Amino acid sequence: MLIAEDIRVEFGGIVAVDNAGFKLRPGEILAIIGPNGAGKTSLLNVVSGFYRPRKGRVLFEGHDITHTPPHERAKMGLARTFQHGELFRHMTVVENIMAGLEPWRRYSILDAAFWTPRARRWEEWARERAELVIDLLELHEYRYRIVEGLPPGVQKRVDLARALAQDPKVVLMDEPMAGLSREEKEDLARAIVEVNETRGVSFVLVEHDLEVVMDLCDHVVVMDSGRVIAEGPPHKVANDPRVIEAYVGG
Ligand SMILES: Nc1ncnc2c1ncn2[C@@H]1O[C@H](COP(=O)(O)OP(=O)(O)OP(=O)(O)O)[C@@H](O)[C@H]1O
Ligand SMILES: [Mg+2]
Repeated sequence: MLIAEDIRVEFGGIVAVDNAGFKLRPGEILAIIGPNGAGKTSLLNVVSGFYRPRKGRVLFEGHDITHTPPHERAKMGLARTFQHGELFRHMTVVENIMAGLEPWRRYSILDAAFWTPRARRWEEWARERAELVIDLLELHEYRYRIVEGLPPGVQKRVDLARALAQDPKVVLMDEPMAGLSREEKEDLARAIVEVNETRGVSFVLVEHDLEVVMDLCDHVVVMDSGRVIAEGPPHKVANDPRVIEAYVGG
């Protein structure tokens, strides 16, 4: 479904990703784990189109999307959330979710200014889409609240809702559990599993919480210093000496 192949990312002299990649099968939840600075976010940014790799390619359902801009990837069914929840802090939950639908907007500034039928139709469609994911992620009570000041767990759910409103086939998530309480993690984990099972959405999660990884994921890719050092089913990877070495230094 999604393949990142021989990816290399450089920043000045630093090699952030060094010949790394992964293969995601349809319906799978895949985790990318590894110590700080391993290159996980950089690899994910290549897959979502925010970084251009020095080398390698990204294939989505057989199409080479290495040079496809992020909003075009979103339209193809590849959505993402962010490590540091890049929500519009002064907008409401609903507005944030609808903002994720911008790539589908079909009207001009003048349509909006004169509130033409074209603009109205988009607005109605986008609201409907937003309401569906508000239902799915149980965000009703926060619908018209400003995002700033909402609990971190709710903000993470809004970030996921924004991605899901795009009706994606694959969602890329960078550290969805970071900064969440135990209860918030359980809520978010349940939401991810539900979306995976009921809608068949596949996930690529960059995640530090190993308990979450072991519980949720079908396949784990372990990175260290830009490279993939191990991969496989969670229980196998957890007992791999190279993985233990990378995490606890032997
Ligand atoms: N925009 C950038 N400019 C320069 N160097 C960068 C940039 N982004 C990442 N790096 C460097 O690339 C390497 C990989 O960083 P990356 O953020 O991909 O790691 P990560 O695995 O996501 O780490 P973390 O677990 O801390 O989020 C690090 O050495 C980092 O300092
Ligand atoms: Mg990161």
